[in-house]
Amino acid sequence: MAQSVPLILKVLASSIKTAARAGKIVKDVMDKGELGIVHKNTTLPTFMNYFFRLIGASKNDVQTEADRSAQRCIITSLSRQFPNITIIGEEGTLDEAEIPSDWIVTDFDECVLKSTCPPKFIDTKPEDIVVWVDPLDGTSEYTEGLLDHVTVLIGIAVGGKSVGGVIHQPYYDYHTNRNGPGKTYWGLVGLGVGGFTPGKAPSDKFIITTSRSHRDEMVNRALNALNPDEIISVGGAGHKVVVLLEGRAHAYVYASRGCKKWDTCAPEGVLEAAGGLLTDIHGKHYDYSKNASFPDAQGIFATVQGVNHKDLISKLPEEVHKAFPY
Ligand SMILES: *[C@@H]1O[C@H](CO)[C@@H](O)[C@H](O)[C@H]1NC(C)=O
Ligand SMILES: *[C@@H]1O[C@H](CO)[C@@H](O)[C@H](O)[C@H]1NC(C)=O
Repeated sequence: MAQSVPLILKVLASSIKTAARAGKIVKDVMDKGELGIVHKNTTLPTFMNYFFRLIGASKNDVQTEADRSAQRCIITSLSRQFPNITIIGEEGTLDEAEIPSDWIVTDFDECVLKSTCPPKFIDTKPEDIVVWVDPLDGTSEYTEGLLDHVTVLIGIAVGGKSVGGVIHQPYYDYHTNRNGPGKTYWGLVGLGVGGFTPGKAPSDKFIITTSRSHRDEMVNRALNALNPDEIISVGGAGHKVVVLLEGRAHAYVYASRGCKKWDTCAPEGVLEAAGGLLTDIHGKHYDYSKNASFPDAQGIFATVQGVNHKDLISKLPEEVHKAFPY
């Protein structure tokens, strides 16, 4: 590989290949039928579980062998290629298990390597980059067999701002092609998107995608205020943004603290590379610096290109805004 390829393109090109490898691991675990499910919070005293639920931390409390193995694949592969960038994974620091050598990805997406780097990223240094990894977004759906809700997320932040990433859907089209390669949606702001052709949402109705399993009063109040013609309830932040990228909905609205930075970094970067926006429910971008706190504590509000993000946010009732202070 030419030495002159800017670091950001190398990180993206490597993440594309790595996400697909991790997706294969996720499928292999499922095929073996030994999911190795653990409930991350069950070792805690009851009041701690209650506390986690209060702060909305219970969403990601299921972990399987697939989460652990896919994260090992991604973090080992990227950190060997890029020892000086920061990588933060949902599963925290896993013990240093021996991993099979074929989990270590060393190749790059050639198309990205050959792209013209957006000028603002030509000099991006390793210390400017933070990669946020959710090795398996939609773990509950995975254990319930809703396989197309599952995604592998690798988000790339530069200077604390999500600027790109990869959403890999290992079970894309699994009803017709269970052993297919899945689908990879990637993007970099200023360069554009790849792996898919962005769809255009219908112009004669307004469709919102939101959580499948986490609906409380605030989530519903926000949805009611926006008065959609249709609501698509699916699991996973990655999958919801796929719904937007494919033109099946106009907005993704979630007035809840249930998501974390690794859930939204990649979806935000890819969606914004496609001309959309992903912010909190007040319209502000999250901070993805390495010192940033994990929860998306002000909810999620995402729109596709052509929808006025600010206008739509202004339709949320005051009490919804007030429920998510900084
Ligand atoms: C990482 O940083 C160290 C210390 O600054 C430096 O010696 C090394 O060359 C860097 N590695 C890469 C691959 O940039
Ligand atoms: C993280 O560090 C950056 C730069 O030092 C700072 O601007 C930002 O406010 C910090 N964020 C948090 C959440 O501490």
